[in-house]
Amino acid sequence: MAQSTSATLPATHRALRQDRRFEPLSVQEIPVPTAIPGSAVLRVQAAGILSYMKQIYNGERNYPYPVPLTVGSSAIARVVALGPDATRLKVGDLCLLDVTMRARDGKGDIFLSAITDGFTPGSKKLMAEGGYRDGTYAEYVRFPLENCYRLDERRLLGSVDQGGLGYTVEDLLYISRLLVPYGGMGPLCIDVKPGETVVVAPATGSFGAAAVHVALELGAGKVIAMGRNTTVLERVKALETEDKKERIVTVPLSGVLEKDLKTLEEAKNGGDIDVFFDISPPMAKDSAHIKAGVLSLCHGGRLCLMGGLLNDLALPHSKIMHFDLTIKGKWMFEREDVTSFIKLVESGTMRLHNEKQEWHMYGNQYSKKYDLEDWAEAFDEAEKVASEGRVYFAS
Ligand SMILES: NC(=O)c1ccc[n+]([C@@H]2O[C@H](COP(=O)([O-])OP(=O)(O)OC[C@H]3O[C@@H](n4cnc5c(N)ncnc54)[C@H](OP(=O)(O)O)[C@@H]3O)[C@@H](O)[C@H]2O)c1
Repeated sequence: MAQSTSATLPATHRALRQDRRFEPLSVQEIPVPTAIPGSAVLRVQAAGILSYMKQIYNGERNYPYPVPLTVGSSAIARVVALGPDATRLKVGDLCLLDVTMRARDGKGDIFLSAITDGFTPGSKKLMAEGGYRDGTYAEYVRFPLENCYRLDERRLLGSVDQGGLGYTVEDLLYISRLLVPYGGMGPLCIDVKPGETVVVAPATGSFGAAAVHVALELGAGKVIAMGRNTTVLERVKALETEDKKERIVTVPLSGVLEKDLKTLEEAKNGGDIDVFFDISPPMAKDSAHIKAGVLSLCHGGRLCLMGGLLNDLALPHSKIMHFDLTIKGKWMFEREDVTSFIKLVESGTMRLHNEKQEWHMYGNQYSKKYDLEDWAEAFDEAEKVASEGRVYFAS
């Protein structure tokens, strides 16, 4: 059998682990993973931290996952070893690591690396036994080849005067944040079209703020950004390029049906609302803003449910039926979304910078790098800065 391709690797590495569910994490020295067929081993360069990471690993969200586990999230990493069946990736390639792991012999068995083992018996088996349970909060990680997306390093990291886009490795973490709303708003799901009016609610969280940017970059004519904290909404707006700011309307989210309906009615200003994009956290379970959003949609309008509500949702049947509304749920995104999104970023169409390049989207606003040992502080910080910050591990 053909040998795997590999750089010289150490025998052990440092990884942030959890031995018992919801108990405190610890940095442990464990063997460096090997490249089995179908996989790559990568050196992690920067791994993003979700704003609700603390709630995942302390059990507040009760996400299902097996232990022991190296925890983690999406990351930017460099290939150091490849299984014998790799045909395109090379040792040294810089990759975006997508945590969405899918069964190879069937559809719908999906888990998120180191975050949740999903919602089917197959997804749970896949995470427990498939060889890819461990995540990216470590020096090295093994990922399936198809979850390693090669990035055009010269173009993305090259200086602007030499035809590059001038990003840093840490800026590239923002691609995984934007990919989530792109999964819902992109052509394979609710398909936001140029000129349309899109409501994003709430737009103050990390994926919510990213959704405002994605909607604008997809050409939305107007983005109605709803949130309880109007100061944060104004800051989300302020991060956009000058030409895009004028297409954003920020409005308060009260959670009270009549109030939110009136707010949306005023914000649409006689026009149509084509899309309502939901990215609510579980805490919004008693809020009526989604129902208000559905009631505000125009004939043929679309609702995209991407939030993390754990409760059932009461929706207005008559409105949905008489107005030919479409409701689509979306968990993460498709593989084709990742490849098309990376093309959008590499072409410069989907920007991670504003026009002055004096900050990187959310980057210089607030960017903080942590060592694995400082995980508790890093999780607190990520929660605190949510939409505005970029908090990540690098070792
Ligand atoms: N479908 C998917 O693939 C997918 C992927 C990633 C995440 N998600 C889900 O999306 C959710 C949101 O993500 P995120 O990154 O934006 O979360 P986040 O950073 O935690 O932000 C959540 C936002 O919701 C607002 N909020 C909190 N309680 C609320 C309430 N009762 N009513 C209305 N707004 C409320 C918060 O702002 P204020 O407290 O200032 O109002 C905050 O800005 C996550 O919790 C997750 O479950 C889904």
